[in-house]
Amino acid sequence: MIDRAPPVSPALIPSLIWSLSWALILSTTLGCRPDPDPPPPSDASGVTVTHATPAVAFTPEERATILTLSPLPPTPPDPTNAVADDPAAARLGQFLFFDTRLSADGNVSCATCHDPALAFTDGRRLGQGLAELTRHSMGLANVAHNRWFFWDGRADTLWAQALGPIEDEREHGTTRVGVARVLAEDPALRDAYEAIFGPLPPLADVSRFPVAARAVIDDPAHPHHVAWTAMSEADRDAIDGVFANVGKAIAAYERRLRSDRSPFDRFVAGLRSGDADDLAALPETAQRGLRLFIGRANCTLCHFGPNFTDGEFHSTGVAPLAGGALFDPGRYDGITRLQADPFNAAGPHADATGVSAEAAASKVRSVIRSPDSWGQFKTPSLREVARTAPYMHEGQFDSLTRVVRHYATLEGAVMPSHHQEQLLVPLDLTEQEQSDIVAFLEHLSSEPLPDHLLAAPEDPRHPTGP
Ligand code: HEC
Ligand code: HEC
Repeated sequence: MIDRAPPVSPALIPSLIWSLSWALILSTTLGCRPDPDPPPPSDASGVTVTHATPAVAFTPEERATILTLSPLPPTPPDPTNAVADDPAAARLGQFLFFDTRLSADGNVSCATCHDPALAFTDGRRLGQGLAELTRHSMGLANVAHNRWFFWDGRADTLWAQALGPIEDEREHGTTRVGVARVLAEDPALRDAYEAIFGPLPPLADVSRFPVAARAVIDDPAHPHHVAWTAMSEADRDAIDGVFANVGKAIAAYERRLRSDRSPFDRFVAGLRSGDADDLAALPETAQRGLRLFIGRANCTLCHFGPNFTDGEFHSTGVAPLAGGALFDPGRYDGITRLQADPFNAAGPHADATGVSAEAAASKVRSVIRSPDSWGQFKTPSLREVARTAPYMHEGQFDSLTRVVRHYATLEGAVMPSHHQEQLLVPLDLTEQEQSDIVAFLEHLSSEPLPDHLLAAPEDPRHPTGP
């Protein structure tokens, strides 16, 4: 079906090129070294130990592809965030992630929609803060590995992402001056903040720093915006700096939410070592699903690499929750918003630590807003996916079975333009094959994170040792 998106020329070519070059990098660096079955290893006494093989007899090509999917590499650096790996900043950020004082009614925190007990999602179709959102809350597993953030990629760094919900009237609904004031008025928070970032502006002076003020670009008559523009430029800049620092601290915490110890990772370790127990971590049905996932079902066209995503945007044809025509422009608007965002990686609040900072900034300058991007959404990671139902950008599907059936049949699919349909074609998969793929997806959940990451620390200050 054709919807209201502008009709366009060869869709997806840029992202395909990106995907393909990634696949190439992955296969040359990780996978495609000749990887014959290693000789039977010997133990210390020189006695040969058995080299087990998986239940499913994978071909050498399949094996090579599977090896590109695990292990997850170390968390990549964020050159735009000078405190990305600072433990004190991570602790402050963790405290703020759970702090409902960063909201207009004192009830909403990041954890309202990203609940650690639900793999950092909320179990709802659409996110709900002060009001209901139009999109589904995303999980946060391995979020620091992402290239773009949000379903539409309207943020290019993890720290800038965090600033969006704080001022969104449907989410936290507070303002950047309000956030700075919470920091200034709580002695423990103030200490924690100032130990990392230096002195806060003199927020006690309400003639300079109104109680609630923020930039509301699309509604200049908004009282928050009027209060904001009445402030001096230097004071606005100081507040923007504090706001960015809040995002950077929260990002330092989120960087710790790694998911890399799943039964699938054990299985891949077993493929490398021949350890029978590790190989048995993935039941045969899930191994069959894995073979389909990387093969006939073609899922690794978009969900590839150890985080199971190409980091790019596609149309998968999922119909809107309310039925009817597609209405969410997705990536098309995301690019405009990213480029207008003063907190993007090319903006004045991005740190520049190391040579890759320029690369981070050039991402936002070079991204092209093509009409093809209308109605595209980010390929999500599939790590933890069995724990994050419902699925897709509006939470349209309740179960993994339903998601896989969508890809298998494309029944009811609504595509923004006929070009994109060429990437996804109905798959010829039996019921058994579909449930094998589901079984595979169910083995991408990691062992739990340490408890200390799952709730607010009692004190936002980093304990200073003797
Ligand atoms: C009211 C619910 C709600 C609140 C509160 C909320 N989020 Fe989200 N979060 C969402 C939704 C919905 C999305 C996807 C939004 C979109 O694409 O437009 C999202 C997306 C994200 C993403 C992007 C993940 C990715 O892979 O791109 C991150 C990171 C995130 N939120 C972190 C946070 C942080 C940090 C806070 C607190 C400062 C927060 N969220 C507050 C609902 C919420
Ligand atoms: C053309 C690229 C592409 C292909 C091929 C593809 N996916 Fe996806 N996948 C996506 C995108 C994009 C989304 C998000 C779509 C949305 O929300 O509208 C997604 C979403 C999902 C989700 C939901 C995750 C969540 O957190 O909501 C699952 C599960 C999934 N895909 C599994 C698969 C499986 C299994 C296959 C193979 C049968 C597959 N995908 C093939 C791009 C793709």
